[in-house]
Amino acid sequence: MKIAVIGTGYVGLVSGTCFAEMGNKVTCVDIDSTKIENLKKSILPIFEPGLEPMVKKNIERNTLQFTTDINEALTDAEIVFIAVGTPMGDDGSADLQYVLEVAKNIGTFMQKRLVIVDKSTVPVGTADKVKATIQKELDKRGVNLAFDMVSNPEFLKEGAAINDFMKPDRVVIGYESKEALKKMKQLYSPFCMSHERFIAMDIRSAEMTKYAANAMLATKISFMNEIANICEKVGADANQVRIGIGSDNRIGYSFIYPGCGYGGSCFPKDVKALKKIAEDHNYTPKLITSVEEVNNAQKLVISEKIVKKYGTDLTGKVFAVWGLAFKPGTDDMREAPAIYIIKELVKRGAKIQAYDPKAMEEAQLFYLKDVENLAYSNSKYDTLNNADAMLLLTEWKEFRSPDFEEIKKQLKTPVIFDGRNQYNIFNLEEKGFEYYQIGKAD
Ligand code: UGA
Repeated sequence: MKIAVIGTGYVGLVSGTCFAEMGNKVTCVDIDSTKIENLKKSILPIFEPGLEPMVKKNIERNTLQFTTDINEALTDAEIVFIAVGTPMGDDGSADLQYVLEVAKNIGTFMQKRLVIVDKSTVPVGTADKVKATIQKELDKRGVNLAFDMVSNPEFLKEGAAINDFMKPDRVVIGYESKEALKKMKQLYSPFCMSHERFIAMDIRSAEMTKYAANAMLATKISFMNEIANICEKVGADANQVRIGIGSDNRIGYSFIYPGCGYGGSCFPKDVKALKKIAEDHNYTPKLITSVEEVNNAQKLVISEKIVKKYGTDLTGKVFAVWGLAFKPGTDDMREAPAIYIIKELVKRGAKIQAYDPKAMEEAQLFYLKDVENLAYSNSKYDTLNNADAMLLLTEWKEFRSPDFEEIKKQLKTPVIFDGRNQYNIFNLEEKGFEYYQIGKAD
């Protein structure tokens, strides 16, 4: 099938590339000409395992191309995906300016009947706004063209995006016209091994499904973090409680790992947006509000443990930080707990020596740009030199089973604060470490 994907951010680039991988002919569009020129040379704006070779392969076999010209992309396309960003507005709502700008351009340039698919995460009712915007442009042009709206929220996870897209748990399609549904089924059937994975519903329910899914997962994490905090008070071990409750398959093992809070661009943004959507409809969402509050507090649990040990004034103290990205497998630092923890420690006078396998450039350029007393190291062991303690903040594979003798040798004092509960299996106390984790009394 011939497809145009507007927006080459995370979702747009992964979707476009994976559609091309299945043999569709895909044109990806972006207004950022530097980004497009780079993509033509297979230089990607993000790090995502497996994506770069897939982009390269599909450019070479002519199934994937990039342009800044939306008109050119629409000429051939049967299906157009809107995959531009919906950043958080000042009041927490999703900012729709980019989505509606694309809708306007589609209305200006479309020459034949198209299926228009919203893949960006958008508030319930956005499809109607997109439809009205396109119709307005068509009316201005005086042309009478039908088009079909579809909502197709994306559920991929950063770091596992290719696999999530190629073998999805489910494909959710919100539709109005049967012809559009038929086209979407045709497009997605190679990705859906069984028919149960293709779930068709009305457009508003599809839009809501995306928020409900992310809010449910965020709730599981905040719930578990709250249980972990209570465990610390009562002398229980959250790691054991996690296994105890996860074995009930109504609860399940996934997304109940306690830690230093969820980050990324999706959970924090979508939980806030859902809260705003509810409030705009005169409903006060108590649970969702608490999920957000628990997470904001959780990001500071590690720095609170540090203050408890060393006192409020951390002048002269040096901390080695392992991991800056909001999770392993990505260079993304949006809303990463590391940002909040590092700033809090520096504010109290501490010096930080940090290392991350992929996210150091992001940190230096954007998220920790003006932070003083923060140095970057070339390897995880280099961070330890002269440090009072080591902090594990992202559970990258290369951090999971380190050489503890080496850590002990390099650190000034053998103290580890584990924000991801990765080292509790190693009996660190017996190895001579002072060991702090989430959800178990110090
Ligand atoms: C999330 C969803 O998992 C995807 O399904 C969704 O498509 C995506 O948002 C989106 O809306 O685009 P992502 O933000 O890439 O994906 O990352 P996750 O793997 O979900 O992790 C989010 C955060 O939760 C991370 O900071 C992670 O460390 C934290 N987490 C996760 C925990 O603290 N505990 C857990 O048990 C699991």
